Amino acid sequence: METLTLLRPDDWHLHVRDGAMLRTVLPHTAARFGRALVMPNLKPPVATVAEASAYRARILEALPAGARFTPLMTLYLTEQTTPEEIDRAAECGFIPAVKLYPAGATTNSAAGVCALERTFPVLERMAERNLVLCVHGESTDPTADIFDREHLFVEQTLAPLMQRFPTLRIVLEHITTRQAAEFVRAAPDTLAATITPQHLLLNRNAIFHGGVRPHHYCLPVLKREEHRRALLEAATSAHPRFFLGTDSAPHARATKEAACGCAGCYSAHAAIELYAQAFAAAGALDRLEAFASRNGAAFYGLPPNGDTITLVRRAHTVPESFPLAEGGDTLVGLFAGETIEWQMLPQGESA
Ligand code: DOR
Ligand code: ZN
Repeated sequence: METLTLLRPDDWHLHVRDGAMLRTVLPHTAARFGRALVMPNLKPPVATVAEASAYRARILEALPAGARFTPLMTLYLTEQTTPEEIDRAAECGFIPAVKLYPAGATTNSAAGVCALERTFPVLERMAERNLVLCVHGESTDPTADIFDREHLFVEQTLAPLMQRFPTLRIVLEHITTRQAAEFVRAAPDTLAATITPQHLLLNRNAIFHGGVRPHHYCLPVLKREEHRRALLEAATSAHPRFFLGTDSAPHARATKEAACGCAGCYSAHAAIELYAQAFAAAGALDRLEAFASRNGAAFYGLPPNGDTITLVRRAHTVPESFPLAEGGDTLVGLFAGETIEWQMLPQGESA
């Protein structure tokens, strides 16, 4: 049987929510990843070090017994964030990054930034204190076509921002276009990008395949095949500034399968397996460890994890849904009810 052993990967972009949802989803991530960078778009947002510390404690409490998993936290950048809060974040030891949501760009982004220049003193301090700026890179111009929002943001906002703050380290999150991949490749070493499994495996046809498919709707929205191929090429190139960030974004089934369904694909139940599938299809399994386990840690200035995971090529069916820990609703994972080719061996089991 074909097996693949990797240094344990990290997830550099993850939503775990809170409460019952947190208890449902965290075991999936903790079984696979050594660390994850946890997004702060709760309601209300995680905007201070005190709030991030309390959220981190709730995550640690929700971990299954025996899990060896470290949550790394982000602060939600608002126009009220102060340079002093950045100092506290830099000193606390568990906040490597601050997240920029353009106001209105996505789920729970209303408290995000309308006028970027109001955050400049904070960005200046972040550059001085070496905190990373994680960016949801989509234009919020209401007249912009939804499929153009990412490359418009890159041209109109990201490029000038990098000129103004040349030492600020930035991660352009969940890139979805050829233009974004090319921009990152050509940029200085201060810029990196994460790529999700759905953007490596699917193009925008998947949102409409035989009818509307709410579980394939996320933001930034899936793009044309040309873009999927460019992303796959970037991910499998072993370029050090492309790395794994699932953007696994759980929403209860009733809020996805609705007249105005929430954006987000839940992928934590099979995250590393789905990346293996994408890399195998590109004939690039030998590059998966760089993308999944090395490049992100190096960008964040951390050593790779010290242990390994093993994947086997063994076709299996993704469960139709997962019960939520409370409330009676369910959670539908990416590729629910479909076959995926790779499986991760439980700790201690050998092929
Ligand atoms: O699809 C998405 N879901 N994109 C985001 O940027 C946010 C996320 C969420 O929190 O649900
Ligand atoms: Zn996200």
